[in-house]
Amino acid sequence: MQATLHQLKVFATVARHRSFTKAADELNITQPTVSSQVKHLANTLGLPLFEQIGKQLYLTEVGEALLGTCRDIFDRLENFEMQVADFKGMKRGKLRLAAVTTTKYFVPRLLGSFCATYPEIDISLQVINHQQLIQRMTENEDDLYILSNPPKDINLEVQKILENPLVVVAKSDHPLAEKHNISIQELNGESFISREAGSGTRRAIQELLNKHKVSVRVRLELGSNEAIKHAIAGGLGISVLSQHSLFAKELESELAILDVREFPIERYWYVAYLSSKQLSTIAQTFLEYLLEQSQF
Ligand code: PGA
Repeated sequence: MQATLHQLKVFATVARHRSFTKAADELNITQPTVSSQVKHLANTLGLPLFEQIGKQLYLTEVGEALLGTCRDIFDRLENFEMQVADFKGMKRGKLRLAAVTTTKYFVPRLLGSFCATYPEIDISLQVINHQQLIQRMTENEDDLYILSNPPKDINLEVQKILENPLVVVAKSDHPLAEKHNISIQELNGESFISREAGSGTRRAIQELLNKHKVSVRVRLELGSNEAIKHAIAGGLGISVLSQHSLFAKELESELAILDVREFPIERYWYVAYLSSKQLSTIAQTFLEYLLEQSQF
């Protein structure tokens, strides 16, 4: 196959954006150049890589396969560059991480001290919900993933790193805030603020409520733990959040953790990577660093 690395890079950028215009912007070249590079590649293969339906650009089956191959090639080249830097006694390169939203209370801090030791490393950290993270995982977008509830149907190397207890949070003047040893049934009919569909926290809560046949009244759905805390403080209802998302000063003033018997829901955060992935030196170094900080 007579494809150049440049053509593969142009193709992969179009595929990522599903747009010739956006790829041209990102690569700082003209759109006709992008189109002609992709056309050359398709001619070499003898098969189309994209199909246009209405305004939407789709990858063909061979396009999907080529995109996977491009990811492997660019990963390996990037790893090689890092190895070269390593041979020269430098840790330099890029670390790609994706982490579920609740980890934002500890991952950036860990990254801070890691970067202080290795200042030449660039980091991209995607903070997203469980479902979005699984999507990135299946597309092999990142080096390492930090999440609760690692999927069973993807081949992963997984290590437990920290506890992630989920607790019931209410406004501090909520009638249940003073009570102890509350039964989960008492939450029946409570106004509830839920995370968005696709959230791992939401799923864990739903499973527990279903198990105990408790039905809450979902009054509001929000995609952020911070927004949920404000909504609780604003009197819109109760919610269940990772204990790590709560700060002492909030618990002293406007929020309270309810003493519900079936809580906290015991969960953990794990660091994971695809078993088929050849970790870069930097990803390996960060993984070791994370495991050193681990509680387990
Ligand atoms: P979430 O994930 O941000 O999708 O709720 C957190 C978790 O699964 O614990």
